[in-house]
Amino acid sequence: MDDLSLHILDIAENSINAGAQNITIKIIEDTNKDLLMIEIADDGKGMEKEVVEKVTNPFITSRTTRKVGLGIPLLKLAAENCDGNFEINSEKGIGTTVKASFKLSHIDRQPLGDIVGTILALLANEHKFNLKFYHQKDENLFEFDSKEFRTLLKQMDIDENGVISIANKYLKENYNNFKTN
Ligand SMILES: Nc1ncnc2c1ncn2[C@@H]1O[C@H](COP(=O)(O)OP(=O)(O)O)[C@@H](O)[C@H]1O
Ligand SMILES: [Mg+2]
Repeated sequence: MDDLSLHILDIAENSINAGAQNITIKIIEDTNKDLLMIEIADDGKGMEKEVVEKVTNPFITSRTTRKVGLGIPLLKLAAENCDGNFEINSEKGIGTTVKASFKLSHIDRQPLGDIVGTILALLANEHKFNLKFYHQKDENLFEFDSKEFRTLLKQMDIDENGVISIANKYLKENYNNFKTN
């Protein structure tokens, strides 16, 4: 995976597959601390401790018949390659939080990439859930709340296709504006 937006998409898709009703994506960039943090939290079905262990380090426990994917290990590797840390906290029946940190200026740190594309792909998923997105860049904060956004547009009788295309325009304009500030 070439950029962090694709990692975020993969992790949030895990949340969708876990039946999450609420997914929160946070990006925190702190120039002074030279730190980039990404957090994806959900209220999906969660995992047992052993499952967390297995999906985080799929190469260590080889005696498994179940195919395990690489979304989680790849993000872990990306963070650790950039003097960062990786952490999953999960509780069965409660939800899961995935956190990855990176040294912001690390030469191998992947760019954030197409975050708007990731948000739109999630919004367009056939499973509907509430998505909260935050990007804190030093003292500036960008926030997007899909529930608020949908409610507002539905009040204006805008259908689902309309919601996605307006979200596309809105995010491209406002998020790109935020990033270049
Ligand atoms: N947020 C989550 N909630 C519940 N289970 C999860 C979550 N994230 C990952 N998992 C479990 O860990 C497995 C491995 O995830 P991942 O590394 O992204 O690979 P893949 O999605 O290809 O299976 C998933 O198949 C799922 O069983
Ligand atoms: Mg996955």
